[in-house]
Amino acid sequence: MSVQLDEYDEYKARQRDLWSAGDYALLSERIADVGELTAMRAELEPGLEVLDVACGAGNASLPAARIGARVTGVDLAPALLERGRTKAEREGVEITWVEGDAEELPFPDDSFDRVLSTFGHMFAPRHRRAADEMLRVCRPGGMIVTATWTADGTVGKTFAAGAPFLPPPPEYASPPVLWGREEYIHEMFGDAARSIEVDRHVNWIVDDSVESFADFFLSTFPPLVTAQAMLGERFGELREAIVAVWRDANVAQDGAFRLPQEYLLSVVRV
Ligand SMILES: C[S@@+](CC[C@H](N)C(=O)[O-])C[C@H]1O[C@@H](n2cnc3c(N)ncnc32)[C@H](O)[C@@H]1O
Repeated sequence: MSVQLDEYDEYKARQRDLWSAGDYALLSERIADVGELTAMRAELEPGLEVLDVACGAGNASLPAARIGARVTGVDLAPALLERGRTKAEREGVEITWVEGDAEELPFPDDSFDRVLSTFGHMFAPRHRRAADEMLRVCRPGGMIVTATWTADGTVGKTFAAGAPFLPPPPEYASPPVLWGREEYIHEMFGDAARSIEVDRHVNWIVDDSVESFADFFLSTFPPLVTAQAMLGERFGELREAIVAVWRDANVAQDGAFRLPQEYLLSVVRV
């Protein structure tokens, strides 16, 4: 679908502000294991050129750089790139941080041996464009390795519970959790792929109680921090809707909180 340039530019500016709210860099430490698994499944070696798309504060970039790959992280939100830069400096690893859009990656064709994305490209509104860009910058013989939340896992259900309280997405946007379906990975990458492997995995959130995690999540997860300012007193209803999903999915028997968050890990060889 064609979209007026200035309309999309405005949308991007709002997304940039949205993802800079709260403290996503802190929250993302709860899903650090996903970045590590993604880097491992990408069969990285020292010297390989790696791109982390919608890298945030570097959840996949950092483990890739620890292996010795030459890593570039690209993201819309400069505030998150800055947090990634600080983390990388603290660890003593080199990463190139670039501000840019997953739908229009600022790199020439065939620039990277590996293209990674952990819960990143799924938020670009026009999925076909994001997929085509990832394919365009990945060299023949390379791999695209992605982690995407599933619709029927806890994160997908949390998004669904929150959606009625949030501003509607633009009509040209596809739902992010479509990327959590195996058939969709084939639809997006299949024509260009030599092979595709998709497995389901679980990231575990562990906390003292549902309520303590709700306090943490609602003060760090950028879209909900932004919603809080907009919703005023209705924010309590949003919190209740999300906490209801988590109570239902909590597997802890002792009043504590153990939440399974299912995602797809996809390895696409091109
Ligand atoms: C859920 S976070 C994931 C970040 C990181 N990959 C991780 O695993 O922690 C989503 C990220 O996508 C970025 N983002 C959203 N839309 C984007 C776009 N069109 N292009 C580039 N980055 C985008 C946001 O700024 C945010 O950093």
